[in-house]
Amino acid sequence: MSSPSFNVEEHKKMLQSYFNGQGFQRWASIYGDDKLSTVRSTVRQGHAVMMDKAFEWLQKTGLPKGSKILDAGCGTGLFTIRLAKSGYRVKAADIAEQMVNKTREDAEKAGVAGNVEFEVNSIESVSGTFDAVVCFDVLIHYPAEGFAHAFSNLAGLTKGPIIFTYAPFNNILAFQHWIGGFFPKKERRTTIQMIKDKEMQRVLSELGLKIVSQQKISFGFYHTMLMHVARR
Ligand SMILES: C[S@@+](CC[C@H](N)C(=O)[O-])C[C@H]1O[C@@H](n2cnc3c(N)ncnc32)[C@H](O)[C@@H]1O
Repeated sequence: MSSPSFNVEEHKKMLQSYFNGQGFQRWASIYGDDKLSTVRSTVRQGHAVMMDKAFEWLQKTGLPKGSKILDAGCGTGLFTIRLAKSGYRVKAADIAEQMVNKTREDAEKAGVAGNVEFEVNSIESVSGTFDAVVCFDVLIHYPAEGFAHAFSNLAGLTKGPIIFTYAPFNNILAFQHWIGGFFPKKERRTTIQMIKDKEMQRVLSELGLKIVSQQKISFGFYHTMLMHVARR
C-alpha cells in the first residue's frame, strides 16, 4: 500500500538495509548473551517475558506437535528454535538475509534445522498455508498504512491462531518519538511506529478476526502489546 507519505517498497528497502547492517549487530546482541547497557538489557528481559507468554498462549490453543507454524520476521531465530525444539515444523522468514543465516546457524547448533524451512522474504510477500502464524516485534516498525497491508497477507496464510505484537499508541511515547529517537536520521522510521486502538480494531474487523487474548508487556524500555487473534 502506498500513499503520498508512505511507500511500501521504500519502507521495505529501508528495513532490509537496516536489519542487514547496523540493525543486525544491535539486535543480535540484544537477543544473544552479550553484556548490555541497562536500557538494552531491559529490552532483552521484556522480550523474553513476551516470548514466554506467547509460547504459553500457543500451547494453550492445543496445536498438535508437527503442526506447521510461520515465524514471520524470525530475527535471530529465538522463537523458531523454541518451536522446532517442541516438535513443531516452522517456516522461518525474514527480510534480512543476515537474520535468516543466524537463525539457520543456531538451529543447526541446536540440532533442529531439519524441522525448519528458512526463507529470505518479507511479511508482505511470504506465502504458504500454516496452522498458526507468529510475528513478533516486526509490525512495530510499520506505520498504520503499511501495518494493514502487511498484516492482511499474514492473516490470509492461516485459519488458525495469529499471535503477534504491535506498539499501541501512547501519548508519552509519541512525545519521545517527536523529540527524536536514538537512531540515525535516515533510519528513524525503523523505530517504533504506534498504532491507535481504533485502527487496530478496524483492521481486525475487516479481516474477520476477533481478539482471543491481549496483554500489554512493559518492562523498562520494552513496551509492546501481545495479541492472540483468530477467525470469528
Ligand atoms: C526487532 S526484530 C524481531 C525478531 C524476532 N521476531 C524476535 O522477536 O526475536 C525485527 C525483525 O523483523 C525483520 N523485518 C523487518 N521488516 C520486515 C518485513 N517487512 N518482512 C520480514 N521481516 C521483516 C527484521 O529483519 C528483524 O529480523
